[in-house]
Amino acid sequence: MLQISFSSQTLPDGGALALLLAEGQDRPAIFEAADKATGGALSRAVEADDFTGKEGSTCVVLAPGAGFSRIVLIGVGKADALGPKEAEAAGGVAASVFGAQETASVALGNVPQALAASVAQGAVLGAYHFSLYYSTPDAGKKHRLAAMTVLTEDPTAAAAAWAPLSAVARGVILTRDLVTEPANVLNPEEFTARVTTLRSLGLEVDVLDRADMEKLGFGALLGVAQGSANEPRTVIMRWNGGAKDDAPLAFIGKGVTFDSGGISIKPAAGMEEMKEDMAGAATVTGLMAALAGRKAKVNAVGVIGLVENMVSGTAQRPGDVVRSASGQTIEVLNTDAEGRLVLADILWYARDRFAPKLMVDLATLTGAIIISLGHEYAGLFSNNDALSATLTAAGEVTGDKLWRMPLGAEYDAMLKSDIADMKNIGGRPGGSITAAQFLKRFVGETPWAHLDIAGTAWSKTSRNGQPKGASGFGVRLLNEFVRKNYETV
Ligand code: BES
Ligand code: MN
Ligand code: ZN
Repeated sequence: MLQISFSSQTLPDGGALALLLAEGQDRPAIFEAADKATGGALSRAVEADDFTGKEGSTCVVLAPGAGFSRIVLIGVGKADALGPKEAEAAGGVAASVFGAQETASVALGNVPQALAASVAQGAVLGAYHFSLYYSTPDAGKKHRLAAMTVLTEDPTAAAAAWAPLSAVARGVILTRDLVTEPANVLNPEEFTARVTTLRSLGLEVDVLDRADMEKLGFGALLGVAQGSANEPRTVIMRWNGGAKDDAPLAFIGKGVTFDSGGISIKPAAGMEEMKEDMAGAATVTGLMAALAGRKAKVNAVGVIGLVENMVSGTAQRPGDVVRSASGQTIEVLNTDAEGRLVLADILWYARDRFAPKLMVDLATLTGAIIISLGHEYAGLFSNNDALSATLTAAGEVTGDKLWRMPLGAEYDAMLKSDIADMKNIGGRPGGSITAAQFLKRFVGETPWAHLDIAGTAWSKTSRNGQPKGASGFGVRLLNEFVRKNYETV
Protein backbone atom coordinates (compact mmCIF):
# COMPACT_ATOMS: atom_id res chain seq x y z
CA MET A 1 0.00 0.00 0.00
CA LEU A 2 1.19 3.50 -0.87
CA GLN A 3 2.91 4.97 2.19
CA ILE A 4 1.23 8.24 3.28
CA SER A 5 2.71 11.00 5.42
CA PHE A 6 1.42 14.49 6.19
CA SER A 7 3.47 17.65 6.27
CA SER A 8 2.82 21.39 6.36
CA GLN A 9 1.88 23.15 3.17
CA THR A 10 5.24 24.65 2.23
CA LEU A 11 7.10 24.12 -1.03
CA PRO A 12 8.95 20.76 -0.99
CA ASP A 13 12.52 20.80 -2.29
CA GLY A 14 11.83 19.20 -5.63
CA GLY A 15 10.45 15.85 -6.75
CA ALA A 16 7.02 15.52 -8.29
CA LEU A 17 4.35 17.86 -6.94
CA ALA A 18 0.61 17.77 -7.46
CA LEU A 19 -1.27 20.91 -6.54
CA LEU A 20 -5.05 20.87 -6.08
CA LEU A 21 -6.88 23.99 -7.21
CA ALA A 22 -10.55 24.85 -6.78
CA GLU A 23 -12.29 27.01 -9.35
CA GLY A 24 -12.79 30.74 -8.79
CA GLN A 25 -10.63 30.94 -5.65
CA ASP A 26 -7.50 32.98 -4.98
CA ARG A 27 -4.32 31.13 -5.85
CA PRO A 28 -2.96 29.58 -2.65
CA ALA A 29 0.41 30.62 -1.22
CA ILE A 30 2.02 27.36 -2.29
CA PHE A 31 1.11 28.10 -5.92
CA GLU A 32 2.81 31.48 -5.71
CA ALA A 33 5.86 29.92 -4.03
CA ALA A 34 6.16 27.20 -6.70
CA ASP A 35 5.64 29.77 -9.44
CA LYS A 36 8.37 31.97 -8.03
CA ALA A 37 10.80 29.05 -7.54
CA THR A 38 10.34 27.96 -11.15
CA GLY A 39 10.73 31.41 -12.68
CA GLY A 40 7.02 31.77 -13.52
CA ALA A 41 6.62 28.35 -15.21
CA LEU A 42 3.29 27.73 -13.45
CA SER A 43 1.56 30.96 -14.36
CA ARG A 44 2.77 30.59 -17.95
CA ALA A 45 1.36 27.05 -18.13
CA VAL A 46 -1.97 28.11 -16.62
CA GLU A 47 -2.20 30.88 -19.20
CA ALA A 48 -1.22 28.67 -22.15
CA ASP A 49 -3.52 25.85 -21.12
CA ASP A 50 -6.41 28.10 -20.05
CA PHE A 51 -6.47 26.14 -16.78
CA THR A 52 -9.22 27.36 -14.45
CA GLY A 53 -9.52 24.47 -11.96
CA LYS A 54 -12.49 22.82 -13.64
CA GLU A 55 -13.28 19.42 -12.10
CA GLY A 56 -11.26 16.65 -13.72
CA SER A 57 -8.92 19.01 -15.59
CA THR A 58 -5.16 18.77 -15.20
CA CYS A 59 -2.22 20.88 -16.33
CA VAL A 60 1.14 19.13 -16.39
CA VAL A 61 4.32 21.20 -16.25
CA LEU A 62 7.31 19.00 -17.07
CA ALA A 63 10.79 19.86 -15.77
CA PRO A 64 9.83 23.34 -14.60
CA GLY A 65 13.17 23.83 -12.85
CA ALA A 66 14.08 24.24 -9.17
CA GLY A 67 14.59 20.48 -8.84
CA PHE A 68 11.01 19.51 -9.76
CA SER A 69 10.56 16.61 -12.20
CA ARG A 70 7.04 17.89 -12.81
CA ILE A 71 4.31 19.93 -11.23
CA VAL A 72 0.77 18.82 -11.95
CA LEU A 73 -2.12 21.18 -11.34
CA ILE A 74 -5.34 19.27 -10.63
CA GLY A 75 -8.69 21.02 -10.95
CA VAL A 76 -11.35 20.04 -8.42
CA GLY A 77 -14.22 22.28 -9.52
CA LYS A 78 -16.25 24.73 -7.44
CA ALA A 79 -15.07 25.01 -3.83
CA ASP A 80 -18.58 24.90 -2.33
CA ALA A 81 -19.38 21.58 -4.07
CA LEU A 82 -16.34 19.84 -2.61
CA GLY A 83 -16.78 16.73 -0.49
CA PRO A 84 -14.95 13.50 0.27
CA LYS A 85 -15.62 11.89 -3.11
CA GLU A 86 -14.28 14.87 -5.08
CA ALA A 87 -11.21 15.03 -2.79
CA GLU A 88 -10.69 11.31 -3.27
CA ALA A 89 -10.89 11.59 -7.04
CA ALA A 90 -8.27 14.36 -6.97
CA GLY A 91 -5.98 12.27 -4.76
CA GLY A 92 -6.42 9.37 -7.17
CA VAL A 93 -5.49 11.52 -10.15
CA ALA A 94 -2.44 12.80 -8.26
CA ALA A 95 -1.19 9.28 -7.55
CA SER A 96 -1.89 7.98 -11.02
CA VAL A 97 -0.03 10.70 -12.95
CA PHE A 98 3.29 10.11 -11.21
CA GLY A 99 5.94 7.60 -12.18
CA ALA A 100 6.68 4.89 -9.65
CA GLN A 101 10.20 6.08 -8.89
CA GLU A 102 9.30 9.68 -8.10
CA THR A 103 9.41 11.43 -4.74
CA ALA A 104 5.83 12.58 -4.75
CA SER A 105 3.81 15.12 -2.83
CA VAL A 106 0.30 16.43 -3.20
CA ALA A 107 -0.61 19.84 -1.82
CA LEU A 108 -4.19 20.60 -0.77
CA GLY A 109 -3.81 24.07 -2.30
CA ASN A 110 -7.01 26.08 -1.80
CA VAL A 111 -9.15 22.99 -1.16
CA PRO A 112 -10.66 22.79 2.38
CA GLN A 113 -7.91 21.35 4.56
CA ALA A 114 -10.38 19.06 6.36
CA LEU A 115 -10.39 16.92 3.19
CA ALA A 116 -6.69 16.00 3.49
CA ALA A 117 -7.38 12.44 4.67
CA SER A 118 -9.80 11.87 1.78
CA VAL A 119 -7.11 13.03 -0.65
CA ALA A 120 -4.78 10.49 0.98
CA GLN A 121 -7.37 7.74 0.61
CA GLY A 122 -7.85 8.56 -3.06
CA ALA A 123 -4.08 8.51 -3.58
CA VAL A 124 -3.65 5.12 -1.90
CA LEU A 125 -6.46 3.61 -3.96
CA GLY A 126 -5.41 5.41 -7.16
CA ALA A 127 -1.90 3.97 -6.86
CA TYR A 128 -3.27 0.42 -6.53
CA HIS A 129 -1.87 -2.22 -8.85
CA PHE A 130 -2.15 -6.00 -8.51
CA SER A 131 1.31 -7.39 -9.22
CA LEU A 132 1.45 -10.76 -7.51
CA TYR A 133 2.00 -12.82 -10.64
CA TYR A 134 4.86 -11.14 -12.46
CA SER A 135 7.74 -13.59 -12.43
CA THR A 136 10.37 -10.89 -12.02
CA PRO A 137 10.00 -9.28 -8.58
CA ASP A 138 10.67 -5.76 -9.85
CA ALA A 139 8.07 -5.83 -12.61
CA GLY A 140 5.35 -4.86 -10.14
CA LYS A 141 7.32 -1.98 -8.70
CA LYS A 142 7.31 -0.01 -11.90
CA HIS A 143 3.53 0.17 -11.64
CA ARG A 144 3.42 1.30 -8.08
CA LEU A 145 4.22 4.63 -6.49
CA ALA A 146 5.82 3.84 -3.11
CA ALA A 147 5.22 6.93 -0.98
CA MET A 148 3.41 10.23 -1.03
CA THR A 149 3.46 13.25 1.26
CA VAL A 150 0.22 15.17 1.65
CA LEU A 151 0.89 18.86 2.25
CA THR A 152 -1.75 20.52 4.39
CA GLU A 153 -2.10 23.39 6.86
CA ASP A 154 -2.88 21.01 9.73
CA PRO A 155 -0.83 17.81 9.37
CA THR A 156 -1.70 16.64 12.90
CA ALA A 157 -5.46 16.81 12.30
CA ALA A 158 -5.01 15.16 8.91
CA ALA A 159 -3.03 12.27 10.39
CA ALA A 160 -5.74 11.71 13.03
CA ALA A 161 -8.47 11.70 10.36
CA TRP A 162 -6.38 9.34 8.22
CA ALA A 163 -6.09 6.61 10.87
CA PRO A 164 -9.64 5.22 10.41
CA LEU A 165 -9.66 5.99 6.68
CA SER A 166 -6.47 3.97 6.18
CA ALA A 167 -8.32 0.94 7.61
CA VAL A 168 -11.08 1.53 5.07
CA ALA A 169 -8.51 1.84 2.26
CA ARG A 170 -6.98 -1.46 3.39
CA GLY A 171 -10.44 -3.03 3.21
CA VAL A 172 -10.95 -1.75 -0.35
CA ILE A 173 -7.54 -3.10 -1.36
CA LEU A 174 -8.34 -6.48 0.19
CA THR A 175 -11.58 -6.58 -1.83
CA ARG A 176 -9.75 -5.63 -5.04
CA ASP A 177 -7.05 -8.26 -4.44
CA LEU A 178 -9.64 -10.99 -3.88
CA VAL A 179 -11.65 -10.02 -6.96
CA THR A 180 -8.53 -9.87 -9.14
CA GLU A 181 -7.14 -13.25 -8.04
CA PRO A 182 -7.67 -15.90 -10.73
CA ALA A 183 -10.15 -18.69 -10.00
CA ASN A 184 -7.49 -21.42 -10.12
CA VAL A 185 -5.93 -19.79 -7.05
CA LEU A 186 -8.94 -18.34 -5.26
CA ASN A 187 -11.25 -21.33 -4.90
CA PRO A 188 -13.63 -21.55 -1.92
CA GLU A 189 -11.01 -23.10 0.36
CA GLU A 190 -8.33 -20.53 -0.48
CA PHE A 191 -10.86 -17.69 -0.05
CA THR A 192 -11.69 -19.15 3.37
CA ALA A 193 -7.99 -19.28 4.28
CA ARG A 194 -7.63 -15.59 3.40
CA VAL A 195 -10.59 -14.72 5.61
CA THR A 196 -9.22 -16.64 8.59
CA THR A 197 -6.09 -14.44 8.52
CA LEU A 198 -8.40 -11.54 9.50
CA ARG A 199 -8.64 -13.02 13.00
CA SER A 200 -5.51 -10.95 13.67
CA LEU A 201 -7.74 -7.85 13.42
CA GLY A 202 -10.04 -9.18 16.13
CA LEU A 203 -12.68 -10.65 13.81
CA GLU A 204 -14.28 -13.93 14.90
CA VAL A 205 -14.31 -16.31 11.94
CA ASP A 206 -16.41 -19.50 11.74
CA VAL A 207 -16.34 -21.88 8.79
CA LEU A 208 -19.09 -24.25 7.62
CA ASP A 209 -17.93 -27.12 5.43
CA ARG A 210 -20.05 -29.38 3.23
CA ALA A 211 -21.08 -31.68 6.11
CA ASP A 212 -22.13 -28.67 8.25
CA MET A 213 -24.15 -27.28 5.37
CA GLU A 214 -25.80 -30.63 4.70
CA LYS A 215 -26.93 -30.70 8.35
CA LEU A 216 -28.33 -27.20 7.98
CA GLY A 217 -30.21 -28.24 4.84
CA PHE A 218 -28.41 -25.88 2.42
CA GLY A 219 -29.78 -27.79 -0.58
CA ALA A 220 -29.82 -24.75 -2.87
CA LEU A 221 -26.19 -23.75 -2.28
CA LEU A 222 -24.98 -27.36 -2.36
CA GLY A 223 -26.79 -27.99 -5.64
CA VAL A 224 -24.66 -25.27 -7.23
CA ALA A 225 -21.48 -26.67 -5.67
CA GLN A 226 -22.04 -30.29 -6.69
CA GLY A 227 -20.48 -30.00 -10.15
CA SER A 228 -17.17 -28.69 -8.86
CA ALA A 229 -14.05 -30.54 -7.74
CA ASN A 230 -13.58 -27.72 -5.20
CA GLU A 231 -15.36 -28.03 -1.87
CA PRO A 232 -17.84 -25.27 -0.93
CA ARG A 233 -17.66 -23.19 2.23
CA THR A 234 -19.83 -20.72 4.10
CA VAL A 235 -17.77 -18.30 6.16
CA ILE A 236 -19.09 -16.18 9.01
CA MET A 237 -17.19 -13.11 10.22
CA ARG A 238 -18.24 -11.32 13.39
CA TRP A 239 -17.16 -7.95 14.69
CA ASN A 240 -18.46 -7.14 18.16
CA GLY A 241 -17.63 -3.48 18.70
CA GLY A 242 -21.07 -2.42 19.94
CA ALA A 243 -23.17 -2.96 23.07
CA LYS A 244 -23.37 -6.57 24.21
CA ASP A 245 -27.07 -7.15 23.52
CA ASP A 246 -27.37 -4.98 20.45
CA ALA A 247 -28.61 -7.00 17.45
CA PRO A 248 -25.99 -7.03 14.67
CA LEU A 249 -26.12 -5.58 11.18
CA ALA A 250 -25.74 -8.44 8.71
CA PHE A 251 -23.88 -8.26 5.40
CA ILE A 252 -24.25 -11.19 3.04
CA GLY A 253 -22.15 -11.84 -0.06
CA LYS A 254 -22.36 -14.00 -3.19
CA GLY A 255 -19.04 -15.80 -3.53
CA VAL A 256 -19.12 -17.81 -6.75
CA THR A 257 -15.36 -18.15 -7.28
CA PHE A 258 -16.00 -19.04 -10.91
CA ASP A 259 -19.29 -19.06 -12.79
CA SER A 260 -19.13 -21.18 -15.95
CA GLY A 261 -22.93 -21.21 -15.98
CA GLY A 262 -22.95 -24.92 -15.18
CA ILE A 263 -24.81 -27.21 -17.61
CA SER A 264 -26.64 -24.08 -18.87
CA ILE A 265 -23.12 -23.07 -19.94
CA LYS A 266 -22.11 -19.51 -20.77
CA PRO A 267 -20.69 -18.52 -24.18
CA ALA A 268 -16.86 -18.69 -24.37
CA ALA A 269 -16.35 -14.99 -25.18
CA GLY A 270 -15.81 -13.07 -21.96
CA MET A 271 -16.24 -16.09 -19.72
CA GLU A 272 -12.94 -15.22 -17.99
CA GLU A 273 -14.78 -12.28 -16.41
CA MET A 274 -16.66 -14.76 -14.28
CA LYS A 275 -13.71 -14.97 -11.87
CA GLU A 276 -15.22 -11.75 -10.49
CA ASP A 277 -18.45 -13.52 -9.53
CA MET A 278 -17.31 -13.57 -5.91
CA ALA A 279 -17.18 -9.76 -5.69
CA GLY A 280 -20.13 -9.64 -3.28
CA ALA A 281 -18.28 -11.93 -0.86
CA ALA A 282 -15.06 -9.96 -1.38
CA THR A 283 -16.88 -6.72 -0.57
CA VAL A 284 -18.34 -8.15 2.62
CA THR A 285 -14.84 -9.35 3.57
CA GLY A 286 -13.25 -5.95 2.84
CA LEU A 287 -16.00 -4.21 4.80
CA MET A 288 -15.58 -6.46 7.85
CA ALA A 289 -11.80 -5.89 7.71
CA ALA A 290 -12.43 -2.12 7.57
CA LEU A 291 -14.83 -2.18 10.53
CA ALA A 292 -12.42 -4.26 12.60
CA GLY A 293 -9.39 -2.26 11.45
CA ARG A 294 -10.89 1.01 12.66
CA LYS A 295 -12.54 -0.60 15.71
CA ALA A 296 -16.03 0.50 14.73
CA LYS A 297 -18.46 0.80 17.65
CA VAL A 298 -21.01 -1.53 16.14
CA ASN A 299 -21.96 -5.20 16.06
CA ALA A 300 -21.73 -6.59 12.55
CA VAL A 301 -21.77 -10.02 11.00
CA GLY A 302 -20.63 -10.96 7.50
CA VAL A 303 -21.83 -14.19 5.90
CA ILE A 304 -20.38 -15.32 2.57
CA GLY A 305 -21.33 -18.35 0.48
CA LEU A 306 -18.35 -19.71 -1.46
CA VAL A 307 -18.93 -22.15 -4.32
CA GLU A 308 -17.74 -22.82 -7.84
CA ASN A 309 -20.37 -23.28 -10.58
CA MET A 310 -18.93 -25.88 -12.95
CA VAL A 311 -19.85 -28.31 -15.69
CA SER A 312 -19.28 -32.00 -14.99
CA GLY A 313 -20.91 -35.37 -14.63
CA THR A 314 -21.92 -34.46 -11.10
CA ALA A 315 -23.26 -31.00 -11.97
CA GLN A 316 -26.91 -30.23 -11.31
CA ARG A 317 -29.21 -30.44 -14.32
CA PRO A 318 -31.75 -27.97 -15.65
CA GLY A 319 -35.04 -29.17 -14.23
CA ASP A 320 -33.61 -30.44 -10.93
CA VAL A 321 -35.59 -29.58 -7.81
CA VAL A 322 -33.68 -28.62 -4.65
CA ARG A 323 -34.82 -27.92 -1.10
CA SER A 324 -33.46 -24.73 0.48
CA ALA A 325 -32.61 -24.28 4.17
CA SER A 326 -35.91 -22.43 4.59
CA GLY A 327 -37.79 -25.56 3.49
CA GLN A 328 -38.99 -23.90 0.27
CA THR A 329 -38.35 -25.96 -2.86
CA ILE A 330 -36.86 -24.58 -6.08
CA GLU A 331 -37.05 -25.87 -9.63
CA VAL A 332 -33.65 -25.05 -11.20
CA LEU A 333 -34.61 -24.24 -14.78
CA ASN A 334 -31.30 -22.53 -15.54
CA THR A 335 -28.11 -23.55 -13.75
CA ASP A 336 -26.59 -20.16 -14.64
CA ALA A 337 -29.02 -18.42 -12.27
CA GLU A 338 -26.90 -19.81 -9.42
CA GLY A 339 -26.16 -16.72 -7.34
CA ARG A 340 -29.72 -16.52 -6.04
CA LEU A 341 -29.53 -20.21 -5.05
CA VAL A 342 -26.42 -19.54 -2.97
CA LEU A 343 -27.94 -16.42 -1.40
CA ALA A 344 -31.25 -18.16 -0.63
CA ASP A 345 -29.57 -20.40 1.92
CA ILE A 346 -27.20 -17.90 3.49
CA LEU A 347 -29.80 -15.11 3.73
CA TRP A 348 -32.10 -17.52 5.52
CA TYR A 349 -29.24 -18.71 7.75
CA ALA A 350 -28.11 -15.16 8.64
CA ARG A 351 -31.64 -14.18 9.62
CA ASP A 352 -32.31 -17.38 11.53
CA ARG A 353 -29.05 -17.53 13.44
CA PHE A 354 -28.34 -13.85 14.19
CA ALA A 355 -31.78 -12.14 14.20
CA PRO A 356 -30.05 -9.10 12.69
CA LYS A 357 -31.37 -5.53 12.78
CA LEU A 358 -31.17 -5.51 9.00
CA MET A 359 -29.57 -7.42 6.16
CA VAL A 360 -27.72 -6.05 3.13
CA ASP A 361 -26.63 -8.51 0.48
CA LEU A 362 -24.18 -7.81 -2.34
CA ALA A 363 -24.00 -9.90 -5.48
CA THR A 364 -22.85 -9.82 -9.09
CA LEU A 365 -26.29 -11.26 -9.69
CA THR A 366 -27.55 -10.38 -13.17
CA GLY A 367 -26.32 -9.25 -16.57
CA ALA A 368 -29.68 -7.48 -16.81
CA ILE A 369 -28.64 -4.84 -14.25
CA ILE A 370 -25.87 -3.78 -16.68
CA ILE A 371 -28.52 -3.33 -19.37
CA SER A 372 -30.57 -1.19 -16.95
CA LEU A 373 -27.93 0.96 -15.27
CA GLY A 374 -24.68 0.46 -17.16
CA HIS A 375 -21.57 0.79 -15.02
CA GLU A 376 -22.60 3.96 -13.17
CA TYR A 377 -25.02 2.76 -10.49
CA ALA A 378 -25.52 -0.51 -8.68
CA GLY A 379 -29.13 -1.68 -8.48
CA LEU A 380 -30.76 -1.31 -5.07
CA PHE A 381 -33.78 -3.46 -4.19
CA SER A 382 -35.36 -3.29 -0.76
CA ASN A 383 -38.42 -4.05 1.33
CA ASN A 384 -37.75 -0.96 3.44
CA ASP A 385 -37.90 2.73 2.39
CA ALA A 386 -35.84 4.06 5.30
CA LEU A 387 -33.05 1.56 4.67
CA SER A 388 -33.08 2.43 0.96
CA ALA A 389 -32.79 6.13 1.76
CA THR A 390 -29.84 5.76 4.15
CA LEU A 391 -27.99 3.47 1.73
CA THR A 392 -28.59 5.83 -1.19
CA ALA A 393 -27.36 8.79 0.86
CA ALA A 394 -24.17 6.93 1.82
CA GLY A 395 -23.60 6.27 -1.88
CA GLU A 396 -23.88 9.97 -2.69
CA VAL A 397 -21.17 10.78 -0.13
CA THR A 398 -18.74 8.02 -1.13
CA GLY A 399 -19.36 7.89 -4.88
CA ASP A 400 -20.53 4.26 -4.83
CA LYS A 401 -23.86 5.25 -6.32
CA LEU A 402 -27.08 3.27 -5.93
CA TRP A 403 -30.31 3.45 -7.93
CA ARG A 404 -33.46 1.98 -6.44
CA MET A 405 -35.38 -0.48 -8.58
CA PRO A 406 -38.94 -1.68 -8.03
CA LEU A 407 -40.29 -4.83 -6.43
CA GLY A 408 -43.90 -6.01 -6.64
CA ALA A 409 -46.36 -8.87 -6.62
CA GLU A 410 -46.55 -8.97 -10.44
CA TYR A 411 -42.82 -9.65 -10.65
CA ASP A 412 -43.03 -12.19 -7.85
CA ALA A 413 -45.71 -14.09 -9.78
CA MET A 414 -43.22 -14.60 -12.62
CA LEU A 415 -41.39 -17.14 -10.41
CA LYS A 416 -44.28 -19.60 -10.30
CA SER A 417 -43.24 -23.20 -10.96
CA ASP A 418 -45.43 -26.08 -12.12
CA ILE A 419 -43.89 -28.64 -9.78
CA ALA A 420 -42.15 -26.79 -6.93
CA ASP A 421 -42.63 -23.70 -4.71
CA MET A 422 -40.79 -21.54 -7.24
CA LYS A 423 -38.49 -21.67 -10.24
CA ASN A 424 -35.10 -19.95 -10.24
CA ILE A 425 -35.66 -17.77 -13.33
CA GLY A 426 -38.44 -15.38 -14.27
CA GLY A 427 -37.64 -14.89 -17.96
CA ARG A 428 -35.73 -12.10 -19.72
CA PRO A 429 -38.03 -9.12 -19.01
CA GLY A 430 -37.10 -7.44 -15.73
CA GLY A 431 -34.41 -10.05 -15.09
CA SER A 432 -32.76 -8.16 -12.22
CA ILE A 433 -36.11 -7.57 -10.56
CA THR A 434 -37.28 -11.18 -10.63
CA ALA A 435 -33.85 -12.17 -9.24
CA ALA A 436 -34.37 -9.74 -6.33
CA GLN A 437 -37.94 -11.00 -5.93
CA PHE A 438 -36.51 -14.51 -5.56
CA LEU A 439 -34.14 -13.36 -2.78
CA LYS A 440 -36.99 -11.60 -0.98
CA ARG A 441 -38.59 -14.98 -0.37
CA PHE A 442 -35.74 -15.84 2.00
CA VAL A 443 -35.53 -12.75 4.22
CA GLY A 444 -38.86 -12.83 6.08
CA GLU A 445 -39.83 -9.51 7.68
CA THR A 446 -36.24 -8.38 8.31
CA PRO A 447 -35.42 -4.98 6.78
CA TRP A 448 -33.36 -6.03 3.79
CA ALA A 449 -31.58 -4.49 0.83
CA HIS A 450 -30.04 -6.25 -2.15
CA LEU A 451 -27.27 -4.55 -4.13
CA ASP A 452 -26.77 -5.96 -7.63
CA ILE A 453 -23.14 -5.01 -8.33
CA ALA A 454 -22.68 -6.92 -11.61
CA GLY A 455 -22.05 -3.62 -13.44
CA THR A 456 -19.89 -1.88 -10.86
CA ALA A 457 -17.54 -4.49 -9.35
CA TRP A 458 -15.15 -4.31 -12.29
CA SER A 459 -14.21 -1.47 -14.60
CA LYS A 460 -12.65 -1.99 -18.01
CA THR A 461 -11.24 1.55 -17.95
CA SER A 462 -9.65 3.77 -15.32
CA ARG A 463 -12.08 6.36 -13.96
CA ASN A 464 -12.13 9.11 -11.29
CA GLY A 465 -8.44 8.61 -10.60
CA GLN A 466 -8.95 4.90 -9.96
CA PRO A 467 -7.21 2.17 -11.96
CA LYS A 468 -9.07 -0.19 -14.25
CA GLY A 469 -9.99 -3.61 -12.90
CA ALA A 470 -11.61 -4.49 -9.58
CA SER A 471 -13.20 -1.36 -8.09
CA GLY A 472 -13.87 -2.39 -4.50
CA PHE A 473 -17.37 -0.95 -5.00
CA GLY A 474 -19.43 -1.12 -1.80
CA VAL A 475 -16.75 -1.10 0.90
CA ARG A 476 -16.65 2.68 1.33
CA LEU A 477 -20.43 2.83 0.82
CA LEU A 478 -21.26 0.37 3.59
CA ASN A 479 -18.55 1.67 5.89
CA GLU A 480 -20.12 5.13 5.61
CA PHE A 481 -23.63 3.64 6.02
CA VAL A 482 -22.54 2.01 9.28
CA ARG A 483 -20.56 5.01 10.55
CA LYS A 484 -23.30 7.53 9.88
CA ASN A 485 -26.32 5.57 11.12
CA TYR A 486 -25.33 2.84 13.55
CA GLU A 487 -22.26 3.67 15.56
CA THR A 488 -22.92 4.35 19.22
CA VAL A 489 -20.51 7.08 20.26
N1 BES B 1 -22.79 -14.05 -12.51
C1 BES B 1 -23.84 -13.86 -13.44
C2 BES B 1 -24.23 -12.40 -13.63
C3 BES B 1 -23.16 -11.47 -14.17
C4 BES B 1 -23.17 -11.11 -15.51
C5 BES B 1 -22.21 -10.93 -13.36
C6 BES B 1 -22.22 -10.23 -16.00
C7 BES B 1 -21.25 -10.07 -13.84
C8 BES B 1 -21.26 -9.70 -15.17
C9 BES B 1 -25.08 -14.62 -12.97
O1 BES B 1 -24.85 -15.78 -12.24
C10 BES B 1 -25.83 -15.03 -14.20
O2 BES B 1 -25.30 -15.82 -14.93
N2 BES B 1 -27.02 -14.51 -14.38
C11 BES B 1 -27.83 -14.82 -15.50
C12 BES B 1 -29.23 -15.08 -14.99
C13 BES B 1 -30.14 -15.67 -16.04
C14 BES B 1 -29.71 -17.06 -16.39
C15 BES B 1 -31.55 -15.68 -15.49
C16 BES B 1 -27.78 -13.65 -16.45
O3 BES B 1 -27.70 -12.50 -15.97
O4 BES B 1 -27.78 -13.87 -17.65
MN1 MN C 1 -24.55 -17.47 -13.48
ZN1 ZN D 1 -23.06 -15.86 -11.23
